[in-house]
Amino acid sequence: MLRMLDITKKPVRPLVAVSILSADFGKMAEDCETVLGMGADLLHLDVMDGHFAPNLTMGVDMIKGVRRHLPEVCLDVHMMVEKPGDYVEAYAKAGANNYSFHWEVTTNAQGSGAPGGDANEMISRIHDLGMTAGMVVNPGTEARVLEPFLDRINVALVMSVWPGFSGQKFMPEVLEKVKWLHEVSGDHVRIEMDGGIGPVTSVDAAAAGCDMMVSASAIFGSDDWAGVIKALHDSPLPR
Ligand code: DX5
Ligand code: ZN
Repeated sequence: MLRMLDITKKPVRPLVAVSILSADFGKMAEDCETVLGMGADLLHLDVMDGHFAPNLTMGVDMIKGVRRHLPEVCLDVHMMVEKPGDYVEAYAKAGANNYSFHWEVTTNAQGSGAPGGDANEMISRIHDLGMTAGMVVNPGTEARVLEPFLDRINVALVMSVWPGFSGQKFMPEVLEKVKWLHEVSGDHVRIEMDGGIGPVTSVDAAAAGCDMMVSASAIFGSDDWAGVIKALHDSPLPR
């Protein structure tokens, strides 16, 4: 039986978070079970609202459904929405374990009146509901904006593509942000990258300090899912 993964513990090799955005939505539970059986550590669920990101993907019922079929899996929810504060309770109830929201939508980024609300208030609410909290920066946002929150969050997610779609090309220029986060973050923070991660780009990502890798199309688009998952796991972290 699987034991629930604790992402607050520093892993010895990169964690592989399979993004189900490229799975077959007609046989979602089966695809999830398959990748977990192949050694994937957790599932990454991309929620988009058609406003913050130019796509509509999945909502709370998908998280509920995956949780129902896989009671022990760690579910990492990536909210690419304008108002992440509105859904914390619903996703906690649906079974999410980590709830990550974008810095760009918060009042911390935009000033008062921003739709996303205050980051510290949201982190507190996420924790009170028993989830770990993550904050995300787009390719155009400095990682330093996360500095005030690094004591409180467990995931610092650096986008290596612009939010929206699977299958985009990895942006190597964001690796500098990962290096900086690796230097300044405590062991309780996972440094996650999302977008264009596959067996080649994972080597640079891990070397920069990324210890939680999201991957969708490199896995589901390959005819050797297990081989890709293994390659991501085997990407050496800095010593
Ligand atoms: C992009 C999503 C990603 C996406 C990754 O907006 O946040 O999680 O599914 O897909 P790949 O690995 O194909 O770049
Ligand atoms: Zn994502």
